[in-house]
Amino acid sequence: MDTNARLAVVGLGTMGRTLVRGLLDAGRDPSGIVGVARREESARDAAEQLGIDAATDLADACASAGTILLCVKPKQLADVVSELAACDALDHDPLLVSIAAGVATRAIEATARRELPVVRAMPNTPCRIGEGMTVLSAGRSAADAHLDVAEALFTPLGRVLRLDEEHMDAVTGLSASGPAFVYVIIEALSEGGVMVGLPRAAATELAAQMVQGAARMVLESGKHPAALKDEVTTPAGCTISALLALEDGRLRSVLARGVQEATVAAARLGERSASGFREPPPRSVR
Ligand SMILES: NC(=O)c1ccc[n+]([C@@H]2O[C@H](COP(=O)([O-])OP(=O)(O)OC[C@H]3O[C@@H](n4cnc5c(N)ncnc54)[C@H](OP(=O)(O)O)[C@@H]3O)[C@@H](O)[C@H]2O)c1
Repeated sequence: MDTNARLAVVGLGTMGRTLVRGLLDAGRDPSGIVGVARREESARDAAEQLGIDAATDLADACASAGTILLCVKPKQLADVVSELAACDALDHDPLLVSIAAGVATRAIEATARRELPVVRAMPNTPCRIGEGMTVLSAGRSAADAHLDVAEALFTPLGRVLRLDEEHMDAVTGLSASGPAFVYVIIEALSEGGVMVGLPRAAATELAAQMVQGAARMVLESGKHPAALKDEVTTPAGCTISALLALEDGRLRSVLARGVQEATVAAARLGERSASGFREPPPRSVR
């Protein structure tokens, strides 16, 4: 089956629209994408905003799609996969790519009732501007060729990394939830600038560009963040004064614990949505 054929995007909420917009801005042909929402109003609105075909008939949209990108909430996913299986919309063996937090590929595979290639993907909202971070992991029937197709889908949206599925909740806690942490950090830095007299707009621009620049230094220099921090920190200078104040406020452990909390919450999301899925078969003993 040609998994590069039409892309069906099931779920046109925040993430479905973010990914479609990112793909269209990266040059993907809108006629090769069909969107599906639950409510007519939602489908109509997305079709207007995005310029793609969008409807509410799940089976019709997915029956000829080479790749089905599942962008519904974790608790909605079991119903969507069950419906697709019940109406034979998976009989042509499409590639299923799920971005649902916490939901294991094994649960999706069992509910699909077929030996289908399933790839779990965890993108983030900066995919909207081609600066996303997406991690992929393969289900039991997904070969490297399927991961290649998923990687080709997400590469125009930013960086892509492949990791074992056991890491997916941690990925959710770090790079999927992370943009929200960084927005709060930028806002706080901007407040600091305002506190010492900068105009608000200038303070926000300084903070955001500084965060972007520092992030790119980490990615492009290959240096450890601590080494880069040392380069900024002159003896008896202003940076070390600030760093010690930040350590007094336990900045590092607060941020690290935030990632840990989000990871635990992602796992809980999967547990809460598990009841709708068919029980996966027991793992074979090796
Ligand atoms: N938010 C993030 O930063 C982020 C990052 C990575 C991954 N994720 C994952 O992305 C997924 C989507 O999150 P979201 O915030 O985009 O959710 P959302 O805004 O609530 O959107 C869900 C969409 O799914 C549609 N839908 C629900 N049931 C459906 C059905 N049976 N058939 C067709 N469409 C159906 C809804 O249609 P209606 O509009 O008609 O109700 C809606 O368009 C979640 O699983 C989440 O874990 C989110």
